[in-house]
Amino acid sequence: MNTSELDLPKVYDKAADFMPLLGTDYLELYVSNAKQAAHYYKSVMGFQSMAYSGLETGQRDFESYVLSQDKIRLVLTSPLRSGTDVGRHIDKHGDGVKVNALWVADATRAYNEAIKRGAKHYMAPTREEDENGYVVRSGIYTYGEVVHIFVERNNYNGIFLPGFKKWETAYNPDSIGLKFVDHMVGNVELGNMNKWVKFYEEVMGFAQILSFDDKDISTEYSALMSKVMSNGNGRIKFPINEPAEGKKKSQVDEYLEFYEGEGVQHIAVATDNIIDTVTKLKNRGMEFLQVPDSYYDALEARVGKIDEDIEALRPLGILVDRDEEGYLLQIFTKTVQARPTMFFEIIQRKGATSFGKGNFKALFEALEREQDLRGNL
Ligand code: FE2
Repeated sequence: MNTSELDLPKVYDKAADFMPLLGTDYLELYVSNAKQAAHYYKSVMGFQSMAYSGLETGQRDFESYVLSQDKIRLVLTSPLRSGTDVGRHIDKHGDGVKVNALWVADATRAYNEAIKRGAKHYMAPTREEDENGYVVRSGIYTYGEVVHIFVERNNYNGIFLPGFKKWETAYNPDSIGLKFVDHMVGNVELGNMNKWVKFYEEVMGFAQILSFDDKDISTEYSALMSKVMSNGNGRIKFPINEPAEGKKKSQVDEYLEFYEGEGVQHIAVATDNIIDTVTKLKNRGMEFLQVPDSYYDALEARVGKIDEDIEALRPLGILVDRDEEGYLLQIFTKTVQARPTMFFEIIQRKGATSFGKGNFKALFEALEREQDLRGNL
């Protein structure tokens, strides 16, 4: 194994950070049927109804549902007519993440700093206001058609953003204990990983904290490479994958083929009780990748003693990995839309700051079994 831990400054120098990020503000998915997707995210994933924008709020072109769960905000947007950019995006990519919005103190400054360093413009700083105050948003492109929108909301007291009203509904299933976005992974074309690593370093002031090569992440058939980028305070982490040469098509290749380009592969959401969260998800119909039962027979020898009973993890398919700082528990859903593209990871960290390298092989073999069933291996 040749994972290299690179030099994240041990003491975060706040004054030197030209792109201070307070956290993930929201994730916006362009989907073909926001109304039905919102129902899925509530019923299956435990999101709560938060805000709405559409015909009833004077928005004639799009309909957006905003859902929340603890610190996570998800926006689902569909067009209300043909010929829109949102519709074209959905036609090309299927359902997927368009916006990873970052909460900042000053959206104009964040935009200017990024543009000065070479970012591709998406949205000039724009002030939006209503009776609850104002927000300033600005945006830049990252890989593929994905954008980062900087959100400055310290002068706003409304439910979400100007133009949205509270979403009132009698149907409010319970939360399943999801807390915040732990990391968001992008898949990029062969040869582009270092370009996007450089983008996050130079334009966003991120540092590379981990790197995996094809020796770390390979099965009999396929391989991939990955580098993990983190912002200065460590709240935002973006691993970036690129395919590597293998005997057969890798999961990243399959994604790139069906997404028709680079985009978000998975969103990892944190819980502080993964057994409870995954039990609820399964009961509500979520499907997960399943590793062979033999994984659990070898588990304690690999990761040592953990707080959880391994026999409770086995039927749920929850995976465990350990690093120098502690351990983590994780599980991956199957893809959640028509195309075999985006999926979710549920993660509980117990000290570990890594991404589950010890599970990569078992996991990718499970992914390949799914790929094979789709005729894409
Ligand atoms: Fe992940």
